[in-house]
Amino acid sequence: MTPSSVAFLFFCVLIILLPAQHGHAASSHASYKLGSRQIFFKTPSKSPANSKQASTATTCSSFANGLANNKLPVVHRQSPCSPLHGLPSLTAADVLRRDTSLIRRRFALQSSAVSAPASAPAPSPAPTIIPVNGSSDGRTLTGALDYSVLVSYGTPEQQFPVFLDTFLDVSLLRCKPCASGSNSCDPAFDTSRSTTFTNVPCGSPDCPTTNCSGGSVCPYDNPIFSIEGAFAQDVLTVAPSAAVHDFTFVCVDVDHPSDDMPEAGILDLSRDRNSLPSRLPGPATFSYCLPHSPSSPGFLSLGGDATVGEDNRTSHAPLVSNGHPELANMYFIDLVGMSLGGDDLPIPTGTFGNASTLLNVGTTFTMLAPDAYTPLRDAFQEEMAQYNRSSPGFAGFDTCYNFTGLDVIQVPLVEFKFGNGESFLIDGDQMLYFDDPAVGPFGMTCLAFSALKDGGGVLSAVIGSYTQVSTEVVYDVAAGKVGFIPGSC
Ligand SMILES: *[C@@H]1O[C@H](CO)[C@@H](O)[C@H](O)[C@H]1NC(C)=O
Ligand SMILES: *[C@@H]1O[C@H](CO)[C@@H](O)[C@H](O)[C@H]1NC(C)=O
Ligand SMILES: *[C@@H]1O[C@H](CO)[C@@H](O)[C@H](O)[C@H]1NC(C)=O
Ligand SMILES: *[C@@H]1O[C@H](CO)[C@@H](O)[C@H](O)[C@H]1NC(C)=O
Ligand SMILES: *[C@@H]1O[C@H](CO)[C@@H](O)[C@H](O)[C@H]1NC(C)=O
Ligand SMILES: *[C@@H]1O[C@H](CO)[C@@H](O)[C@H](O)[C@H]1NC(C)=O
Repeated sequence: MTPSSVAFLFFCVLIILLPAQHGHAASSHASYKLGSRQIFFKTPSKSPANSKQASTATTCSSFANGLANNKLPVVHRQSPCSPLHGLPSLTAADVLRRDTSLIRRRFALQSSAVSAPASAPAPSPAPTIIPVNGSSDGRTLTGALDYSVLVSYGTPEQQFPVFLDTFLDVSLLRCKPCASGSNSCDPAFDTSRSTTFTNVPCGSPDCPTTNCSGGSVCPYDNPIFSIEGAFAQDVLTVAPSAAVHDFTFVCVDVDHPSDDMPEAGILDLSRDRNSLPSRLPGPATFSYCLPHSPSSPGFLSLGGDATVGEDNRTSHAPLVSNGHPELANMYFIDLVGMSLGGDDLPIPTGTFGNASTLLNVGTTFTMLAPDAYTPLRDAFQEEMAQYNRSSPGFAGFDTCYNFTGLDVIQVPLVEFKFGNGESFLIDGDQMLYFDDPAVGPFGMTCLAFSALKDGGGVLSAVIGSYTQVSTEVVYDVAAGKVGFIPGSC
């Protein structure tokens, strides 16, 4: 299928996203870039009038009103439009623990499955319960999937916020009847009210479970995330004019809102043949921009507009395959090196080898194999030697500074280098964690990377959503590349 033959089918969906912890709308500081360094400086505090404007902009209706016809409202977990709004935010330490556990479980299963003989399936690791401090809400257990979109399932449509994901290979939705038999599991899809809902039977090409007997409903049992359910199909409506018929997803058994499922579900943007991009007409291309500030809307764009431009603003990274069929649905990119402040980091050749760098929207902070993390951390500490480092660290990060009281700080910026010779320079918002978003870097500030503790032998780096903020990330699978367009939202 040529792009032109299906061009008229393409649509583009713009989405408003709100940030959680690292936005700085009520900005008390500004910055400029000088080569591969960024200089932050304090600005006079905002007038009361401005603060008032900022707070009225964060009501749910003001965001909904800002959307045009063909745009899909998407909310952040802290948006007033989100059912999770008002629940305590996770701390950075919570997110680091959760992501580490998520990666370990996902890839530990992978490596044991690879090494086990085909005739003897590897035993599944026991589900891990992840401690979540700073939140009384168990819905965060499946991952730091902070960015979500409002979509509708069924006929007539029932609308739900679902997290964006590139990691699980499947779309999930909480469904009724509730596992407990009660009606208390909202938000959940009431399958009995949809005239187009069908179960996927065992033996169907859309039933990946081989171990189920004919006639019964295709079960889904995910030991990694302790989620159980059944494969189903229904209409997925992602924009007023864009519906996917017979969209395959898993109806998750839940009993109450604080169970294992966050939000109402997860929207799969992976390379799986049943993911949303795969089911859209034309090439499976899409892009998103995750905003770092409530005042700067982000977007998800699906279809033909998401081709990678050849302009010199865009950095291109080759999409690569690492030969593990079980990981074929994830997005791996050809990272070959990194620099800090313009100087190449002494990362041993081959550290990022074997297509082991995962680009992921389902985890938050970027994790690097120790062979890459240690040189980065050491070089950053050396560059920042003029400042007092807070030992032993803060909020789970090991390289932190309390810049309270300073008026100007200078930070060396991280650059990712790809096998095609191109590179992607990130800025402070993407590489620094600010404990207090209101003061930004002029409070406790940490290098927002961590050491990858267990990549299961197949991972050397996971580029998380935090590192991607404000950048449009374009997935052009047909062209075999990902584009990074900085400063897009
Ligand atoms: C998490 O909370 C528990 C219980 O309050 C506490 O014992 C533990 O130290 C906390 N962990 C972190 C990393 O803050
Ligand atoms: C198939 O499913 C049955 C019932 O759930 C289970 O007892 C059996 O161990 C499964 N077989 C395999 C090969 O997974
Ligand atoms: C590349 O960027 C420069 C400015 O940075 C601009 O003047 C030039 O037109 C760009 N070239 C292309 C091919 O986009
Ligand atoms: C890449 O694969 C080769 C061969 O399997 C192995 O020897 C090497 O250690 C791997 N490198 C990394 C970084 O995983
Ligand atoms: C570092 O700490 C020392 C001793 O507490 C203090 O005198 C100095 O001003 C601090 N330097 C900076 C850059 O904060
Ligand atoms: C940073 O330093 C200021 C001033 O010394 C202090 O009030 C504040 O509590 C410190 N922040 C953290 C997170 O330790």
